[in-house]
Amino acid sequence: MRYHWHQIISVRDYHAEHDVTDPHEGLSPTLLELIRQEASSQRRVIEIGCGTGRLTRVVAPIFQDVIAIDWSEPALAEARLTAAREGLANIHFHLADAEQVSYRTLGTDPIHVVVAHLCMSNAILTQAAHLDPGTVLAFAAFHTDQWCETAVISRFAYTEAAMEEVLADTGFHPCYLGLEKEVLRFPSPEVAVAYLEKTGLQSKWQSSNRWSGFLRFLREGGHSLTVRARVVIKARLD
Ligand SMILES: C[S@@+](CC[C@H](N)C(=O)[O-])C[C@H]1O[C@@H](n2cnc3c(N)ncnc32)[C@H](O)[C@@H]1O
Repeated sequence: MRYHWHQIISVRDYHAEHDVTDPHEGLSPTLLELIRQEASSQRRVIEIGCGTGRLTRVVAPIFQDVIAIDWSEPALAEARLTAAREGLANIHFHLADAEQVSYRTLGTDPIHVVVAHLCMSNAILTQAAHLDPGTVLAFAAFHTDQWCETAVISRFAYTEAAMEEVLADTGFHPCYLGLEKEVLRFPSPEVAVAYLEKTGLQSKWQSSNRWSGFLRFLREGGHSLTVRARVVIKARLD
């Protein structure tokens, strides 16, 4: 790897009374800070894969306006409703495939900042690279260690090396590269299974190979789970 990566890594024992929710989806405070550093009432943002608009609602009040895109109509409907309820009138929602659509066609004014939270791919970075030089990119994406104990790796997950490579290939110069990781250690397989039931991960995983993969890991003596692993990136288009 060519660059220094900031690492925030926590490996700790599971405590039933504290660890009641699945932490993998929480917005990264580091990402929010990286975005806030770019805030300006003169600058326009595009958010990729806005979902129900959690990040959108944080970003909208601190920028001129936000173009928020997602390919899920139900998610956009909820995002529109919540934004209206909160009086956020500077968000323009678009139903679009972020890997296919040209971001320039979604508005007439220049886009200064691209943000994304858990929606990233090489195709998205390629689209973002068609924006103007100097465009800032700030996002969090899955790291390949997310739930690695299940032996199922998301196709949207990156290693540090793969992230550096795609940034270089698409012409983005890194300003901040971060790895955030949280690993829980369970006292027994039964407690691990109870945690997965409680957080809803078990039902989520049962439709894929993750559940059987994790049971195999426990049978073979494993007693931990990487509950959160992501890369947090800020980069500037050359
Ligand atoms: C894990 S969710 C994250 C949602 C939101 N950013 C958040 O953190 O709450 C990923 C989102 O990306 C959207 N998505 C995935 N691939 C997409 C694509 N190619 N084009 C547009 N949206 C996409 C999904 O519909 C989903 O809303």
